[in-house]
Amino acid sequence: MTQTISIALVGLGNVGRRVIQLLLDKEADLRERYGLSFRVVAAADSSGAAVAAGEGAPKFGMGRKSEGLDLREILRAKESRQGVATLPRRGRAGMSAREMLERVEAGALLDMSPTNLADGAPGLPAVEAAIERGMHVVLANKGPLVLAYPKLAEAARKRQTRLAFSAAVAGGLPTVNLGRRDLAGSRIERIEGVLNGTTNFILTSMAESGMSYADALAEAQARGVAEVNPALDVEGYDAAVKLLILAHAALDYHVTLDEVERVGITGVTMDDLTRARAGGKAIKLLCLAEREGERWRLSVKPAALPLAHPLAQLNPHQMGIIYHSDINGIITAAIQEENPMPTAAAVLRDLINLYWPA
Ligand SMILES: NC(=O)c1ccc[n+]([C@@H]2O[C@H](COP(=O)([O-])OP(=O)(O)OC[C@H]3O[C@@H](n4cnc5c(N)ncnc54)[C@H](OP(=O)(O)O)[C@@H]3O)[C@@H](O)[C@H]2O)c1
Repeated sequence: MTQTISIALVGLGNVGRRVIQLLLDKEADLRERYGLSFRVVAAADSSGAAVAAGEGAPKFGMGRKSEGLDLREILRAKESRQGVATLPRRGRAGMSAREMLERVEAGALLDMSPTNLADGAPGLPAVEAAIERGMHVVLANKGPLVLAYPKLAEAARKRQTRLAFSAAVAGGLPTVNLGRRDLAGSRIERIEGVLNGTTNFILTSMAESGMSYADALAEAQARGVAEVNPALDVEGYDAAVKLLILAHAALDYHVTLDEVERVGITGVTMDDLTRARAGGKAIKLLCLAEREGERWRLSVKPAALPLAHPLAQLNPHQMGIIYHSDINGIITAAIQEENPMPTAAAVLRDLINLYWPA
């Protein structure tokens, strides 16, 4: 039997559009393998929102249900650089994501809006509204997790909804699930990670093929894996944010971003990289969580790793993580992530895992 679940989307950019494409491409697979069918009843971008017929109005007709939005129509609009607010009949110009969520009946929100570390908008108010309404939330957006993880986790616990955010920490690389789910029962002793794709691309391309810093950054941006604001990547904010989310989720250690020591890659020169290479080392922007008694030291900074270290071997398109544990040994994972598709895939896996096994 197929379970049909209504979902709402916020953010229809690199990640959001790919999630829509996956919902279309994998529709039969989702039904056959997992018994799941997802119906998108609302979607928001910077233009406003689109709300499916039958949503947001007093119930009309006996038991009539919304049919959901036409996903191909949304993709066509986005491909021609139009906002969802322009969709005939369904578009609502200027409607905020929060207002949209207050009008629809949906089981889950997928937040794929821009990471905003100042006040979290539009993701944070949308996530809060979704939890208040008893919806599960899947996030690729890191902002709400950085600004309000303990509060959101508590609100979700009270409303008996779930927060899933494996896409927020290194996209498709299993970082959150490894630490939270797969190491259940173990004591995590240390986490090492190369969690920012853009800086790894820049450092590795400079070291291995002599590419200039500016060219490497431009290429990462062109592929859609870099943050729109490059400072977030090259000054280490994105990596620090990911480490902080892992601290919350996997270490149950709740601190703020100020408590993550952060040094970016802007001070790393071609000379540094060449010298490291000549000495059998590779410079990576290393995220580290180290135990200090009952506390953790969290840091992000360039580190020269011996070439035998698994993270030193990552190619320009990879990210990786190592968990050191007491009874599960050392687990290393790496991913080849050349575009935002694995992040969209991570949103999909979180969504499936909310409902399957039913
Ligand atoms: N790209 C990756 O590989 C990757 C990996 C991991 C995590 N993430 C995270 O995933 C999120 C999405 O990334 P992305 O690359 O898809 O970003 P993006 O291409 O910039 O897309 C952002 C989307 O959010 C929409 N938006 C902007 N302001 C809005 C508002 N006020 N209300 C509703 N929607 C609004 C934009 O609307 P318009 O379409 O109208 O501009 C756009 O559709 C970010 O938080 C990012 O940090 C991305």
